[in-house]
Amino acid sequence: MILLITGGAGFIGSNFIRYILKHHRNYKVINLDKLTYAGNLENLRDIEKNKRYRFVKGDILKTKGEWLKAKGVDAVINFAAESHVDRSIIDSADFIQTNVVGTQALLEASREAKIKRYIQISTDEVYGSLGRSGYFTEKTPLSPNSPYSASKAGGDLLVRAYCHTHKFPGIIARCSNNYGPYQFPEKFIPLLITNALEGKQLPVYGDGLNVRDWIYVDDHCSAIDAILHKGKIGEVYNIGGNSEKKNIDVVKKIIALISHRSPIIKFVQDRKGHDRRYAIDSTKIRKELGWKPEYDFEKGLDATIDWYIKNKNWWKRIKKGEYKKYYKKMYEEGKGQKANG
Ligand code: NAD
Ligand code: DAU
Repeated sequence: MILLITGGAGFIGSNFIRYILKHHRNYKVINLDKLTYAGNLENLRDIEKNKRYRFVKGDILKTKGEWLKAKGVDAVINFAAESHVDRSIIDSADFIQTNVVGTQALLEASREAKIKRYIQISTDEVYGSLGRSGYFTEKTPLSPNSPYSASKAGGDLLVRAYCHTHKFPGIIARCSNNYGPYQFPEKFIPLLITNALEGKQLPVYGDGLNVRDWIYVDDHCSAIDAILHKGKIGEVYNIGGNSEKKNIDVVKKIIALISHRSPIIKFVQDRKGHDRRYAIDSTKIRKELGWKPEYDFEKGLDATIDWYIKNKNWWKRIKKGEYKKYYKKMYEEGKGQKANG
């Protein structure tokens, strides 16, 4: 089997490539990635010489059916995306290009090449925000609140339409918040861990009571593997870690685990349009595909902190470059956050 993995130089894509090469010894992987600020070939250093792996620098917007045919691609797994909500609040143009127009280009190329399976890596954020009770199921209406989640919902609707109109072999996977090794330190958990290790302030939006349902990245990878091999064409599968946490409780846990410096919690202005609570009902994938997560939050967080402690060079390099400008814009100038008062 030859898999085309798009966005494989990012956080989840690079973990998934490592997962596939380990668990499917006869599979080959082509990683197509544009290498935006979030794409980093260092994420794949340990496997770059593997004969079953190949990297191609490119944009999903320019994918052609002829190219997929020439490479003998059997299945496409689309991870490529602009993925950070805060950046989509500052400027959403790239989000529409990659997450909507890029998905359409990849779908069209995949259709032309008659690929056997196409998995769209989507997100629980397309469902919007929950109140104190209830869960997102696959039947929850789409109600995206941020430009990021609206662009992901746009991609999902195109996949749905291709399945319906062209009998295209598409499947959509909607997962909750991931954490683990190689996550770009603009996202909450790696931002907290790396700031704590540097003795810097830990920014918490609003009252810190927003809830996310956390899943360790390996568990997301095993779910995608199950969907790739056992998922039904045209279906949606929700994936969640059954691990709801208030943001402030995540901060306190990280402070307790990284105790050698004294990091300070800093409540900052809330994110604009901040979704209050996400929680996934993953009964369908558990029952129909026999998947379940292996990590609870404590085990996953320990493994993640350990990785960031052992890989300081990786994140220190990232935090020097473009990231510095972004951090200033976000946290010092308050872009993407609600105005004072
Ligand atoms: P990421 O930002 O770490 O990585 C995205 C990758 O896509 C980068 O390597 C980037 O270079 C590449 N890319 C961006 N635009 C591209 C383009 N036009 N052509 C080719 N490559 C391009 O993202 P992530 O956190 O690994 O998320 C991967 C996917 O999973 C995304 O689709 C995201 O919406 C989805 N998702 C993420 C989470 C999460 O918690 N991180 C949860 C659920 C779903
Ligand atoms: O639910 C899946 C989604 O999870 C993915 O689709 C997105 O790609 C991914 O970025 C993530 O979105 P969130 O907005 O939930 O994740 P983020 O890590 O940005 O924030 C998690 C929570 O922490 C959220 O309530 C906002 C809050 N937060 C975040 C940052 C960066 C803070 O309080 N302070 C911060 O500095």
